[in-house]
Amino acid sequence: MGKTDDASRLAQIGADVAKAATLLRGGALVAFGTETVYGLGADARNDAAVAQVFAAKGRPASNPLIIHVDCVSRLEGIAELSPQAHEIAGRFWPGPLTMVLPLVAGSGISPLVTAGLSTIAVRVPAHPLARDFLAACACPVAAPSANPSGKLSPTRAQHVAEGLGAHLAYILDGGACAVGLESTIIDVTDEPRLLRPGGISAEDLGIAPLTASIVAAKPSAPGQLLSHYAPRAAVLLNHRGKDGVSHWLGFGPQDAGADANLSRRGDLGEAAQRLFTMLRVLDARGADVIGVSPIPAHGIGLAINDRLKRAAAPRCH
Ligand code: TXA
Ligand code: MG
Repeated sequence: MGKTDDASRLAQIGADVAKAATLLRGGALVAFGTETVYGLGADARNDAAVAQVFAAKGRPASNPLIIHVDCVSRLEGIAELSPQAHEIAGRFWPGPLTMVLPLVAGSGISPLVTAGLSTIAVRVPAHPLARDFLAACACPVAAPSANPSGKLSPTRAQHVAEGLGAHLAYILDGGACAVGLESTIIDVTDEPRLLRPGGISAEDLGIAPLTASIVAAKPSAPGQLLSHYAPRAAVLLNHRGKDGVSHWLGFGPQDAGADANLSRRGDLGEAAQRLFTMLRVLDARGADVIGVSPIPAHGIGLAINDRLKRAAAPRCH
């Protein structure tokens, strides 16, 4: 591609970002790509816009949202960062980590965002387009994953359009999400506690994975309802082979006979990136029951197992 092409492509991206930010600041919903999954964004200070997020997703009002900002300094007057929170922010932001922090009184954040809690979940995404967008918005952006409540999270703009298109003023297309699973959530209001395993592993954070699996089994984040991240098909865990299932989702080189493989080379990062897309693909092929091979429970494998367990849980919707 020539220099002129590059320049006009960049100018187009800049125009898209500016348009998306203007729409959001005007109270509309804008979906945007991040490195984890696509977010369904609204101005976090605007009650009506935030209410639309809950309505579009069919999300219970008791389940609070994460706010997204382009840099830590924008959290001034919104969230209280202890020295330890600052240290964690310095190591992992921008990136796939969400911190639950004490909410500052008079923050201007809509109480709908926090579901009335005295804490607020905050993230600084690393995706360059998301950061440009958040900088252009120049306000905290409340954004859950851009999918109908309980369904698979979107990792491509097309997934967002399929699930929520009718509710959106704009979709900022950031391409396929590099991490593919939601951010890790830690509560930093006291000793750091893992609330949701995700894009940054418990090992990297220095929080014992054992704690992580206990938390995954006994969730304390209000939104950690058991059935979640569900494809249309039923899901059977730790299932190798075609017996008793309509489709087999494999992992690793030994699963050559599988209908699809999360990572032929047995790479957990690749499996995380492809998990939601592959479940969608098997749904689209008309799967009734998807059997999924065992996934090692270390590193980001812990987050993969967490999502799979919820996908396989009894459905109440
Ligand atoms: O990667 C991600 O985190 C994506 C992208 C868009 O940033 N967002 C995302 O949002 O996954 P959502 O709404 O699907 O999940 C947010 C989780 C929910 O389980 C919610 O209960 C929890 O964060 N949460 C939000 N505020 C909280 C708080 N104050 N205390 C505890 N948990 C909180
Ligand atoms: Mg979600």
